[in-house]
Amino acid sequence: MAEQLGDGTRAIHVGMPEGPDGSPLVSSPVFASTYRLTGEPSGPYQYGRLTNPTWTAWEAALSELEGGETVAFASGIAAVSAVLLTALRPGDTLVMADDCYYATRRLAEGLLTDLGVTAHLVPLNELGDHVDGATLVWLESPSNPKLDVCDIATLAERAKRHGARIAVDNTTATPLGQQPLSLGADYSVASDTKALTGHSDLILGHVACRDTEHANAIRTWRSSTGAIPGVFETWLAHRSLMTLDLRLQRQAANAQALAEMLSSHPAVREVRYPWLPGDASHQIATRQMRRPPGLVSFTLDDGATADKFLAALSIVATATSFGGLHSTAERRARWGGDDVHPGFIRFSCGCEDTVDLIADVATALERV
Ligand SMILES: Cc1ncc(COP(=O)(O)O)c(C=O)c1O
Repeated sequence: MAEQLGDGTRAIHVGMPEGPDGSPLVSSPVFASTYRLTGEPSGPYQYGRLTNPTWTAWEAALSELEGGETVAFASGIAAVSAVLLTALRPGDTLVMADDCYYATRRLAEGLLTDLGVTAHLVPLNELGDHVDGATLVWLESPSNPKLDVCDIATLAERAKRHGARIAVDNTTATPLGQQPLSLGADYSVASDTKALTGHSDLILGHVACRDTEHANAIRTWRSSTGAIPGVFETWLAHRSLMTLDLRLQRQAANAQALAEMLSSHPAVREVRYPWLPGDASHQIATRQMRRPPGLVSFTLDDGATADKFLAALSIVATATSFGGLHSTAERRARWGGDDVHPGFIRFSCGCEDTVDLIADVATALERV
């Protein structure tokens, strides 16, 4: 599909079937574990753990949006594990941003370290100083939950000079917000549980690769370990993808309005939203990204105040995860895994009317 088409057009049409009169306009799920297969095994579909037509359509769509061959997984963390465990061997060095998703950090510091990989966790903006000797450099941008942004192209160039691969967890941005492969990354990894599918009703992930050999290794890993996506979830995901552009537009508009309102509110400190002109990530985010995400983070006085605020919200649910149609918020310190202030809130703007969302947050802030 032509690159110059708009995001709305691409999100609707990627990976969808073409055909003569009488053929379906959209793809349907194929629930086959078993395919007819006689003689020497050949053809694209032989056994359900290896290939499936519903995955093929979904992966074609993601490959187009990411700009590289894509392999779908049962969850975001299955996609993360696939990259870590195919790219690294005992004796290798992993350099990872220390603000990455906690389960990713846990793999680095736990399983990988046990397997003989040396893992260095360093601040996102210091990754460039540690690429010498690294086998793989891992980061999230914008990071979750603090929303810091890394200059991916500069880091990728540096990593390449030192012979290191670079993987970007692109969950918060989605491929409409940012294409890590075109910025020089070797892998773009994501939890599709979040904004990409956006309906809070499924768990999925994917890995997009710049290099066909890496994609083959990732695909073989999936077949070998069985971390395969469910067919129904995959079909739901492809159905949800068609509205990605619309959802992101409303989420970003809500996030901008919320960030502006919070920035001038006396009860709120340290608002983070890369599209706020005063934000520490503003310059690099607006230069590097194609469009903004719907996440805002901010800090209230302490944990008790933050809990009171969350309880006072009416249309915003307290929940973990983000990127859905429904606005959600949570006090991240309740999990204990992130280095955040006790009053730090990650707020995921959904697709409600902006005026309703802002009124709900303003009323809750008045109550605390
Ligand atoms: C940035 C990021 N990467 C990966 C994951 C893991 O994804 P999943 O929960 O789909 O396994 C998450 C989950 O919250 C995440 O936020």
